[in-house]
Amino acid sequence: MTDLLNIHNLKVEFDTDEGRILAVDNVILKLQEGQILGLVGESGSGKSVTAKSIMQLNADNAVYGDNSKIVLEGQDVLKFKTNQDLKVIRGGKVSMIFQEPMASFAPAISIGDQMVELLLLHKKISKEKAKSISIDMLDRVGIADADKRFKQYAFELSGGMRQRAMIAMALSTMPKLLLADEPTTALDVTIQAQVIDLIKDIVTEYKMGVIFITHDLSVIAQTVDYVAVMYLGIIVESGPVREIISNPKHPYTQGLIEALPDLNNLDKPLKPIPGDIPSPLERPTGCVFHTRCKLFESGVCDNAVPPLSEYAKKHTVACFKVNTNEQ
Ligand SMILES: Nc1ncnc2c1ncn2[C@@H]1O[C@H](COP(=O)(O)OP(=O)(O)O)[C@@H](O)[C@H]1O
Ligand SMILES: [Mg+2]
Repeated sequence: MTDLLNIHNLKVEFDTDEGRILAVDNVILKLQEGQILGLVGESGSGKSVTAKSIMQLNADNAVYGDNSKIVLEGQDVLKFKTNQDLKVIRGGKVSMIFQEPMASFAPAISIGDQMVELLLLHKKISKEKAKSISIDMLDRVGIADADKRFKQYAFELSGGMRQRAMIAMALSTMPKLLLADEPTTALDVTIQAQVIDLIKDIVTEYKMGVIFITHDLSVIAQTVDYVAVMYLGIIVESGPVREIISNPKHPYTQGLIEALPDLNNLDKPLKPIPGDIPSPLERPTGCVFHTRCKLFESGVCDNAVPPLSEYAKKHTVACFKVNTNEQ
């Protein structure tokens, strides 16, 4: 079976006044249809840049590596240049939802008109058909009185409803791949759970692939099949989500898990990862995590970049201090 998405050695740098910033390096990801892949890591770890690369939505100062490839259904989308090609990855085969739904909607156009416009841009269908698909989709994501909401503006909806409307719009074109960039971060926990359930249902029903981005490991545990943990633009560990949560091997993943509150033991002190994420202008040599790592060994960890190697079946770790042959 060919992969829905296969990202090879993605490297993204940004040209800035202070010099060239390396934002994403050597990222390798695979996704099949019907699968949800989680990208987790603290702010600035390169999650959004990775997702935006798939739609070529990074700012103009982005420079992609010569060996980077983002293969979607057999085609390298980094080679897409014409408007016709770009349409395929921007609302055609790929849709994106964001933390802030207001970013997806123009304030002065009704939600319905925007949904219809998007559909007409991507599908050869009549306006009436586009309208009925849009209303069906609003209904499908749990918006009551969908035909009434269709005529409203984004600011007239509550936060949770706006999030659903954005998901409805992103899904209306039936993308093969949905990029969900912190889609639940700004929501109350109860609504967060509903939105996650909705995304999971839709993935099963429409067999699309999803990249689900969050800084919150507890959300990942509930949502995804596979997870890749990112730190300073690098994947430090990846694998099936249960395996990663129950048997984390990279000291950074272990730190993220130890930093989570334990509802069964409220007296347990929270254990944040010590130190701060270095500035991208001052990337550590060798392993990028070595400045905060409990296993740091001078001369080893600051000397070379550890390769992402297989620890167990489908479980990969990039750390010199983890014995990848140990089972
Ligand atoms: N246009 C840009 N110019 C310079 N640096 C950028 C640009 N866009 C993103 N970056 C940098 O890329 C890094 C990764 O950012 P991002 O992917 O947004 O992180 P995350 O989504 O994990 O919080 C950050 O250091 C960010 O400052
Ligand atoms: Mg982000």
